[in-house]
Amino acid sequence: MKRSLTGLQPTNFLHIGNYIGAVQPAVALQSDTQLLMMIVDYHAITMPQDPKELRKNILSAAATYLGCGIDPAKTILFQQSRIAEHMELAWILQCVAKMGEAERMTQYKDKAKKAEGAKGAEGASVGLFTYPILMAADILLYDTEIVPVGEDQKQHVELARDLAIRFNRDFGETFVVPEPKIRAEGARIMALDDGTKKMSKSAPSAKSYIALTDDADTIRKKIMSAVTDSGTEIRTDRNRPAITNLLTIFSVATGRSIESIELAYVGKGYGDFKKDLAEAVVEYLGPIRGRILNFAADETELKRILAEGAEKAKGMAAFKMNKVRQRVGVTL
Ligand code: TYM
Repeated sequence: MKRSLTGLQPTNFLHIGNYIGAVQPAVALQSDTQLLMMIVDYHAITMPQDPKELRKNILSAAATYLGCGIDPAKTILFQQSRIAEHMELAWILQCVAKMGEAERMTQYKDKAKKAEGAKGAEGASVGLFTYPILMAADILLYDTEIVPVGEDQKQHVELARDLAIRFNRDFGETFVVPEPKIRAEGARIMALDDGTKKMSKSAPSAKSYIALTDDADTIRKKIMSAVTDSGTEIRTDRNRPAITNLLTIFSVATGRSIESIELAYVGKGYGDFKKDLAEAVVEYLGPIRGRILNFAADETELKRILAEGAEKAKGMAAFKMNKVRQRVGVTL
């Protein structure tokens, strides 16, 4: 069986962009690949986190994945920080990666600009800079072939590929070279209040995203107040990112093609379109929300599932690290 792996940061809650871009594709991979699903808590601390909140968020991330359909009988669901081998391999890969490569990562450049207010990159943590290399370690440690991610993580998966190829060349065949799996539609869901910005957990306004735990009324309100572009036509257009984004969400939520939705709204206004879109999203996320809340209510069970996942991941990671240490020359 092929192996697939993905990870999400336990910061706040997950939004519909995370679900469409990464979680739903991962859930689909459970049937024909061995999926490893990670809560990347050590990625989360590259930005300041309140320890009490982080603990809560790790548990709610577990409840969210389970609510989205991650099945612990098939999938290894675990917390990254439980497996020390991730950090050990990250160190070795930091010695393989080049400064220039890390400096080219666009997400680092964007996040560093925002870090520590006016201080910019000077005030960003070193962890924020090396974060893509920890991500490469996450992927390479498990001989991952497929990495389902949203568009914004493509460059990081490409770095993991480059590091695997370089390590194999310099130390002998060790790592599988992974492939990103990025969906054609919905790999980059945009903010509801600004069609030119990615929907993001850290956005200052709650109106910009739909959280997977938003109730039906909140979803309706957020969609009704979503910005639209100038003009009245309901049709995708590179120069009209807001309506294009809403059409993408509509299409993914209903499984209908964008063309058929465009056709259905010829001659109709944004009001009708948004009302129907809101109902489609309520129907799409409603059952997931119910399941997330159910799982979240049983902390003991969540911890049990994570402990079981960590045990399985640990065995695989330990096996691989033995080989890596030998290759590098530190095993006597
Ligand atoms: P993170 O936590 O920022 O995002 C989790 C996943 O959600 C996708 N995503 C989106 N997809 C579509 N539209 C959006 N607006 C949107 N926002 C986020 C992301 O692309 C991602 O797939 N570094 C990673 C986590 C990670 C990881 C890994 C992923 C760590 N190790 C190993 C894969 C394999 C991150 O911070 O994702």
